Order: sequence, then structure tokens, then C-alpha cells
Amino acid sequence: MSPDDPGFGLYVHWPFCLSKCPYCDFNSHVRAGVDHGRWRGALLRELDYYAAETSGRRLTSIFFGGGTPSLMEPATVAAVIERARAHWSFAPDIEITLEANPTSVEAGKFAGFRSAGVNRVSLGVQALNDADLKFLGRHHSAAEARAAIDIARRHFSRYSFDLIYARPGQTAAAWRAELAEAVALAGDHLSVYQLTIEPETTFGAAHRRGELQVPGEDDAAALFELTQERLADAGLPAYEISNHARPGDESRHNLTYWRYGDYVGIGPGAHGRLTIGGEKLATRQHRAPEAWLAAVEAKGHATRQRDPVPAEDRLNELMMMGLRTAEGVRRCRVGAECGRPLEALLDPTRLDRLIGGGFLLLDDAGLRATAVGRQRLNAVLAELLA
Ligand SMILES: C[S@@+](CC[C@H](N)C(=O)[O-])C[C@H]1O[C@@H](n2cnc3c(N)ncnc32)[C@H](O)[C@@H]1O
Ligand code: SF4
Repeated sequence: MSPDDPGFGLYVHWPFCLSKCPYCDFNSHVRAGVDHGRWRGALLRELDYYAAETSGRRLTSIFFGGGTPSLMEPATVAAVIERARAHWSFAPDIEITLEANPTSVEAGKFAGFRSAGVNRVSLGVQALNDADLKFLGRHHSAAEARAAIDIARRHFSRYSFDLIYARPGQTAAAWRAELAEAVALAGDHLSVYQLTIEPETTFGAAHRRGELQVPGEDDAAALFELTQERLADAGLPAYEISNHARPGDESRHNLTYWRYGDYVGIGPGAHGRLTIGGEKLATRQHRAPEAWLAAVEAKGHATRQRDPVPAEDRLNELMMMGLRTAEGVRRCRVGAECGRPLEALLDPTRLDRLIGGGFLLLDDAGLRATAVGRQRLNAVLAELLA
């Protein structure tokens, strides 16, 4: 993989969690019991289906996301990796990530996941103090999170963890202290997300009732800038709006998304982008776990949508993904996906205005957003792609 070669990834969605966090609108569900054998069989069948369409390619990453994939049986993770290896060749440095909740039970399974072939974990730490973890509806303590990070460090050469900031009442001083601890605990990668209030969540309803106030735009922007500065000083610069890594240790799987590469998505609600016969296809699987399982068992896959991405949408998707990153959108990727040079596809007046305003930079390598542009990316994209 390189900025000009986006790689080829496999995303596997595990849709179950022990409880639903009040801020989360991911495709995650709480179920009394899960038939692991049935789920394993169905994931393998859907994998076979998509592999048949993409044979001969070289896989650069696998990502087990959720939901809570650390609730999977290590044998299921092993079976998926083994089957993927049977279908595609693996890049020598293939990255195989599994998202994990930092409870002691799940950390106890890390050895099993490593034996299954996982070589990187991403832990949902969210906060490093118990009061905020309670507020976020998490069932682990800060001490458990620290212990899980320690176990991750011992089992995996690469690990990352997620934090959520801009919590109600969070001061810059408190966040600075928490970031300092995060840096001390960090490996090669950190994901730091600003709390967003999603309408279809418990927090969304509380916000509508006026019972939950989050920091205003200026306060949130100040916390964002503090995050960027502190983590860059600690050798973990942002390579995407919310993602920080030591140079060379960026998540390869995420880079494939942001470089608008191809990836197969299996499991409930998973999306994919596949170039087949010279055409870019968008795929989406049934979202509800039971509907997905029934469809796979009936016909081998649970594809709900499979549409060619029209040329104009390809440009939009390429920009929406690529401008999130520090490296931006490379000229050769525009040529490969859209068949024409960058300047021929974008409105010159709008482009000049955004460059003049200090939001975008254009050079021989391609187009990228400045730090200020990345912070206001939605507005920049609305102007650029109007
Ligand atoms: C699929 S979850 C991670 C894995 C695991 N289920 C966990 O919670 O530990 C992906 C990440 O998205 C982030 N996230 C989810 N909803 C969010 C929201 N409303 N605002 C900010 N970050 C959010 C959290 O940091 C979470 O760890
Ligand atoms: S944040 Fe993670 S554990 Fe919580 S509901 Fe979402 S996916 Fe599940």
C-alpha cells in the first residue's frame, strides 16, 4: 500500500453488544443469546459469496468491527481469517484488527484472538475517569480500561484505543490531563472522537428534552485544537480528523476507506465498495441481525443494495473520504476512479475561493484540506461539490 495504492480490505460486522450505550447509533443490538455456530456458518457463506467475485486480489487488511467483536468466539474469528486466506493472497504485512470492549472478560480472550491471527486491537476506552464512564453508560471502570490496555500491549505489537471528548461540562484543564494519561498509555495509534448527539439514541432524546447540554461550537473547537496540538507534540499527529498515529502506523484498513479503495463488507449492515469488470459498485447488507441471518442461510448472501456508483458520485465520495486525511486526494486516484484530471472535474472558481480562504491546498501530488479546512470539512465539501 502507498498513497497511490489504496489496498484491498475485508470488513466483518459483529452486531451484538452486552448493552446499548446511550450515545451510540451504530448497528449494534442486545440479544439474550447468540447461536455462535449459526453465525459462524453464515459469515463464512457470505464471505465465500463475495470472494468468488473478487478472486485473484491481494488482501491488505481485515477489520472485525461492531457492535462488539470481542464478544465473538475466537474460533469464529479464526475461521473467518482462515477462509479469507483460502480465497485471497495475503499481503506480507496484512493488518488484522479486532475492536474490543475493555472489560476483564474480553481482555481474557486476547490470547485466543492473537492465536486466531488478529495482529492489532482497537479498544473502546472512551474516558479515563469513572464518573464520565458512568455518564457514557459504560460498564467498565478506568482501572479496567488501563488493565485491558496493558494486556493488549503484551499480546499485540499494534494497538489503538478510542476516546470521546467534548462531554458535558468537560473543561480544557480536565481534558489536557486526560490526554496526558492517554499519551502515556498509547501504543502507535489513538482515535479521539468528539461526542456527537445522534437523534435516534438515548442522548438524542435527552438533548431534545433539554436535559443534556454539550459544549458549544467554540468550546468544542478549542478542545479539538488542544487535542491536535497535544497529540502532535507527543509524536501522534492527526492523519485524519479524529485519528492519530505515529508516522507509518496509521490504520491501513481505514486508509483503504479514505483513499477510496475497494473493500468487501460482510455481516449485518456492512457496506462495500468493489470494482468489478471496470465498474465501481456500492454494496450494502441487510441491517437487522435476524433478517441478515435468514437471507444468508436462504441464498448465501444478504445483499440489500448493489448499485454502480455513477461518475459524479465517485468524485464526491473520493473527495468526502480523501479530504478527511492529512495526505488528501492524490491526482492519480482521481484519474483512476474518474478517468479525468482533477482540474477538469472541479469548478475552478469554487476551488480558487477555497484555496484563497486557506481551506484547501493544491499541488502536484493532489488536493488536500488544511488543518482549518479539515475542522470545517462539511462546509468545505458543500462549497466544493455544490
Ligand atoms: C463500534 S464502536 C467501538 C467498539 C466497542 N463496541 C466499544 O464500544 O468499545 C466505535 C467507536 O465509535 C465511537 N462513537 C460511537 N458513537 C459515538 C458518538 N455518538 N460520538 C462520538 N463517538 C462515538 C466510540 O469511541 C466507539 O468506541
Ligand atoms: S459504543 Fe460500542 S459497546 Fe456501546 S453500543 Fe456502540 S458498539 Fe456497542
